[in-house]
Amino acid sequence: MTRPVKNYKNPTLVSLEVLLYAILDVVEKDQKFIPYVWTVTRWNNEYISWDPDQFCGIDNVSLRTEILWKPDLTIVEMTEKDKAPPSPYLTINNKGDVEVQNDQVLVSTCRMHIYKFPFDIQSCNLTFRSIIHTAREIRLQPSDNSSEATEWSREVMRTQYEWLFIDMIVTANNATILTDQDVVIYTITMKRRSLLYIVNFLLPVLFFLCLDLASFMISDYGGEKLSFKVTVLLAITVLQLILNEILPSSSDRVPLIAGYCIGIFALMMLSLLETIFVMYLRQKSSQDTERDGCMIHESIKSNKESHDWTSGGFIYNVSSSETGEILPGAKEDRSSKLLGECYTLERLSDELRAMEKMLTLLFKSNKDEETSGYWNRVATRVDKAFFVFYVLVVILFLVFIFLEWQSDSIDTT
Ligand SMILES: *[C@@H]1O[C@H](CO)[C@@H](O)[C@H](O)[C@H]1NC(C)=O
Ligand SMILES: *[C@@H]1O[C@H](CO)[C@@H](O)[C@H](O)[C@H]1NC(C)=O
Ligand SMILES: *[C@@H]1O[C@H](CO)[C@@H](O)[C@H](O)[C@H]1NC(C)=O
Ligand SMILES: *[C@@H]1O[C@H](CO)[C@@H](O)[C@H](O)[C@H]1NC(C)=O
Repeated sequence: MTRPVKNYKNPTLVSLEVLLYAILDVVEKDQKFIPYVWTVTRWNNEYISWDPDQFCGIDNVSLRTEILWKPDLTIVEMTEKDKAPPSPYLTINNKGDVEVQNDQVLVSTCRMHIYKFPFDIQSCNLTFRSIIHTAREIRLQPSDNSSEATEWSREVMRTQYEWLFIDMIVTANNATILTDQDVVIYTITMKRRSLLYIVNFLLPVLFFLCLDLASFMISDYGGEKLSFKVTVLLAITVLQLILNEILPSSSDRVPLIAGYCIGIFALMMLSLLETIFVMYLRQKSSQDTERDGCMIHESIKSNKESHDWTSGGFIYNVSSSETGEILPGAKEDRSSKLLGECYTLERLSDELRAMEKMLTLLFKSNKDEETSGYWNRVATRVDKAFFVFYVLVVILFLVFIFLEWQSDSIDTT
C-alpha cells in the first residue's frame, strides 16, 4: 500500500499517455470544455516480479485496483468529479510494470477567447499532476510526444461536436527543485466549424441590412417606409437576443460579432432617423402649400362678400384663384351719377385697396410655394446625400469587420 520502491529515496517513475476520444461539448458561456479522454498510467512496482516459465507462461495478471498503490494523479482544470466509476482493474506483468487504463468524461474549465467568434480557435489545457507527491517521490513524464498524441487522437476521434480537432501538444514541465511537482500539460487546440453560424446568423443580419438599403426606394409619402424600417430593426434585435445566449458576459473585449451586430443596428437606426427627418421635411412643405391655398380662398371669399352690398357700382371678376388674375371692370351706373363722383371715387379707392391686398397675398403665396418647394428639394437632396453616405459607411464597416475576422493576430483577452 505504500509507494513500491525498495529505497524510499528513489522516486517512482510514472509515465502518462492521454488520448482524446471525443469533444463532447464546449460551453462558451460557462467557459467549460468537456472532452472524453482515455488515460494510461504506467509505473513499476519493485516488489512484484515472477518467472513466467514457472507459472505456465503467464506473464501478466489483472488485479483489483484497490489492493495496490496507485499514483494520485489529478487534472487541475477538472471542475466536476467523473460520474462513471474508474476502471476496476489494473494489469501487472512479470517484471512488475503496472498499467492502469481509464476513460472519463472530463468537465474542465477552459478560458475561451471569443473575440473572433465564430471564427475562433480555442486551446484548452489539461494539466496532470500529483495531488500530494513532490518530484522527490513521483517523476511524471509523458510517454508520447506531441505528433504521436495528435496522430493517435485523430485516429480514435469519434465525435467533435461543432469543432475541428487541430492538434494536441504535450508539454512536460520538470520540477527544477525536488520539492516542486512535475507537471504534464496536454494542450488541445481546436477550430470552430463556423458554417452554421454564418448561415444562421451572419447572413440573415446582412440580408436585413440589404433590405434596409432597398427600403430607400420606397416612397417617402405615407408611413410604409417608416414601418418597414422599424420592422427590419426589430428583426436585428431578435438576432441580438440569440447572440446574448451564446456569448459569455465575462469577456473584457467586445467580441467582433457583437460589434458587427451593434454596428449594423446603429447604421439601420441612423437610416431610420434620416427617414423620419426627411418625412418631417416633406410634411412641412405640404403643410405650407395647404395653408397658402386656404388663405387665398378666404381672401377671395371675403372680397366677394364685401361687394355684395354695393348696388352694382363695379363688376369684378376673379378668373382663377390659381393664377391670381383679377380683372376688375368698372361701369358707370345712372344712380351713381346721382350720388356724385366723389362717392364713386371712394368706392374705386376701396376696391383698389382690396385688390392690392389680394395681390400682395397672392404674391406672398407664390413666394411661399417657392419655399415649400424648397423644403421638398432639401428633403430629396438630404435623401440622396444620405444614401451615398450610408452605402459608403456600410461598405467600409463590413470590410473592416471582415478584415479583422480574417487577421490571425493573437487574441489576448
Ligand atoms: C498478458 O498476457 C496475455 C496472455 O497471457 C497476452 O496475450 C497479453 O498480450 C499480455 N498483455 C501484456 C500487456 O503483456
Ligand atoms: C496552457 O499551457 C501552456 C503550456 O504550458 C501555457 O503556455 C498556457 O498559458 C496554458 N494556458 C492556460 C489557459 O492556462
Ligand atoms: C515522436 O516520437 C516518434 C517515435 O517515437 C518519432 O519518430 C518522432 O520524431 C517524435 N516527434 C517529435 C516531434 O519528437
Ligand atoms: C524531464 O525529465 C525527463 C526524465 O527525467 C526527461 O526525459 C525530459 O527530457 C525532461 N524534460 C525537460 C523539459 O527537461
